[in-house]
Amino acid sequence: MIHVHDLRKAFDSLQAVAGVSFDVPQGETFGLLGPNGAGKTTAILMLTGVLQPDAGVIHINGETDPTQPQVRRHIGLAPQALSLYEMLSAEENLSFFGKLYGLLGPRLRQRVDVALNLARLTERKHDRVGTYSSGMKRRLNLACALVHDPAVVFLDEPTVGVDPQSRNFLFETIEDLARQGRTILYTTHYMEEAERLCKRVAIVDNGKILALDTVPNLVAQHGGVPAVEIELDELPGDTTTLPGQLEGKVLRFDSEAPQEEPARLAQMGLKFSSFRLLKPNLERVFLNLTGKSLRD
Ligand SMILES: Nc1ncnc2c1ncn2[C@@H]1O[C@H](COP(=O)(O)OP(=O)(O)O)[C@@H](O)[C@H]1O
Ligand SMILES: [Mg+2]
Repeated sequence: MIHVHDLRKAFDSLQAVAGVSFDVPQGETFGLLGPNGAGKTTAILMLTGVLQPDAGVIHINGETDPTQPQVRRHIGLAPQALSLYEMLSAEENLSFFGKLYGLLGPRLRQRVDVALNLARLTERKHDRVGTYSSGMKRRLNLACALVHDPAVVFLDEPTVGVDPQSRNFLFETIEDLARQGRTILYTTHYMEEAERLCKRVAIVDNGKILALDTVPNLVAQHGGVPAVEIELDELPGDTTTLPGQLEGKVLRFDSEAPQEEPARLAQMGLKFSSFRLLKPNLERVFLNLTGKSLRD
C-alpha cells in the first residue's frame, strides 16, 4: 500500500530526511517515532504530495506521484499544523475539504454528516471553529482527513495539545480506522502512542531510520534488561553496599531477574514500602539507540 525507498529532502545544508525506506502493507498501522526535528513531518509531506522530494521512490496504492488528483483521492492527511478555517464552521470546513477531494451533492452531504459524527461535533457544527477548544480542533482536523473515506491515512502527531479525554477519543477513532482495514502512517514523539496503536514502528532520528520492527521485537532487541525501583522505609547505615543508584530513599538498578529482587533485598535486612518493575519499553529502545531521551 505504501512503499518508500531511499527518500531524501534537504533544506539548504540540513538533511531533514536522509535516505528513508519502508513498506506498509494494506491495513497496517505503521509508526514513525522520533523526537522533534527527526524529519517525520518532512517525510509525511513528501508522501502526500505537499513537498517535492530531492530523491527517492514513493508508491501509494501502486501509484508513484501523490500530487496527482486520482492518487490524492485515496489519501487523507491530518497535518501536524492544524489546517482549518477558523472563520468557518465545522460543517463548512468539512464541506470545503470534501469538495477539494471531488465529493459533490448528496454524497458530499452524507460524508460531511458522517465526519461530523466521527468528530463528535454534530451539536456544534454551525459554530465557528475559532470558538472551539484545542481538542475539538484536533478532532475536526482528523475528520477533515477522513471526509472522502480514504484508504490510506497519514496522521502527523494527531494528539498534540489535546486534553486527555479528546486524546482517548482520538485513539479509539484511530483504532476503529485500523479495524476498518485502512492503512495508517502515524507519527509521534510519544512512545506510549506508538506502543498502543502501531503494529510496527520505525525509530527515526536525524532524518534516518535507526531500527524498524514490531514493538515487542524492538524492545527485545534494543530495550536492554528490566530495571527495578524500590522505595526504602529507611536508609541503612552504610549505603555503599546497596546496588544501583540511590535518590533520596528510592533505589534503582537494572536486573535480569527482577522478580527475585524483593526477597534478595529482604535478606539484606532492607525494609521497603514499594517495589516497581520497569520493563524495557520503546523509550529505553530510543535511549539505547541514540544515547538520548525521546523527550530531550
Ligand atoms: N521548510 C523548512 N525549511 C527549513 N528547515 C525545515 C523546514 N521544514 C523542516 N525543517 C527542518 O528539518 C528538520 C526536520 O523537521 P520535521 O520534518 O518538521 O521534523 P519532525 O516532524 O520529526 O519534528 C528540522 O531540523 C526542521 O527544523
Ligand atoms: Mg513534525
